Amino acid sequence: MNAVTLNNLSKIYPDGKKAVDSVTISLEPGEVFGFLGPNGAGKTTTVKLLNGMLSPTDGSCSVFGIEPCKSPEKTHAISGVVTEHAQMYDTLTGLENLIFYGTIFGLSPAESKKRAESLLAQLELSEARDKKLGAYSTGMRQRLSLARALIHNPRLLFLDEPTSGLDPESAQNVHLLIRGLAQEKGITVFLCTHQLRYAQEICTRYGLMSEGRLIASGTLEELRGRIGAGMRVRIRTCPAGTASGILEENIASEEEIPQLVRRLTENGKSIYEVSTQAPSLEDIYFALTAAPETSQKNS
Ligand SMILES: Nc1ncnc2c1ncn2[C@@H]1O[C@H](COP(=O)(O)OP(=O)(O)OP(=O)(O)O)[C@@H](O)[C@H]1O
Ligand SMILES: [Mg+2]
Repeated sequence: MNAVTLNNLSKIYPDGKKAVDSVTISLEPGEVFGFLGPNGAGKTTTVKLLNGMLSPTDGSCSVFGIEPCKSPEKTHAISGVVTEHAQMYDTLTGLENLIFYGTIFGLSPAESKKRAESLLAQLELSEARDKKLGAYSTGMRQRLSLARALIHNPRLLFLDEPTSGLDPESAQNVHLLIRGLAQEKGITVFLCTHQLRYAQEICTRYGLMSEGRLIASGTLEELRGRIGAGMRVRIRTCPAGTASGILEENIASEEEIPQLVRRLTENGKSIYEVSTQAPSLEDIYFALTAAPETSQKNS
């Protein structure tokens, strides 16, 4: 069974705004799916549809076969959500908040406490466990919100900008934790993020949204194929430390390199170094979002 299925999913808000426009995609269990796209592309709306916070205007979506808008409780029992504005209690401590949410999800108070303590340690919040949430910094709050989403051992995690307020070290820790959850526990992750470098490190597949439409999806290799530019080659024809004599070119495949080198040597150049670099997720993102019309036609 698919972990997540979107089938021609569309959402038009009451004011007429079409935020999600006929999106179809499915995720296998255990995938870490990077859901990317500029501000207003429809990512959060999609997450809200997948959590039953909104109902589709057209089409449908499901998580492990459950339709979120019809069975929100069943959906929440198997999934955890981190959004930009998590609802927790400022007057309770971090530990108390987690125990509270654990018991809401049906864990006993003792089980809740055990899970809470282990998650607080994993998210480096043990020292702040007895502090009231009102005294937490943005990054601490964000990490506690991730702990809350994980308290009931969900099979599926929806993460909407989970590291937006985190310092680089905490962001790195959270990303490693997410990857660990997927690799060791087989948790499926639906991750909306603008942090493309981290996404490239942890995601197994991507979906790129623009103006409500899914303009591209696939693995990094598949997306590289979509933008055409196979790789970038850099050839140095001068000794190290000299300023001039570096040639950089986009080539379709490494098959073009010998010919390029031959052309240069025939012109009397000496080759000191040849290196290649495949386009990063960031390169792909800019290539595809800059020309959404073209990429749609080619899909
Ligand atoms: N409650 C609402 N009523 C009307 N329009 C809305 C509502 N919520 C979102 N929108 C609009 O729907 C579109 C998609 O918004 P959404 O929040 O899903 O984008 P996003 O991809 O999550 O963006 P960001 O990267 O900024 O978080 C935007 O044009 C937004 O203004
Ligand atoms: Mg959003």
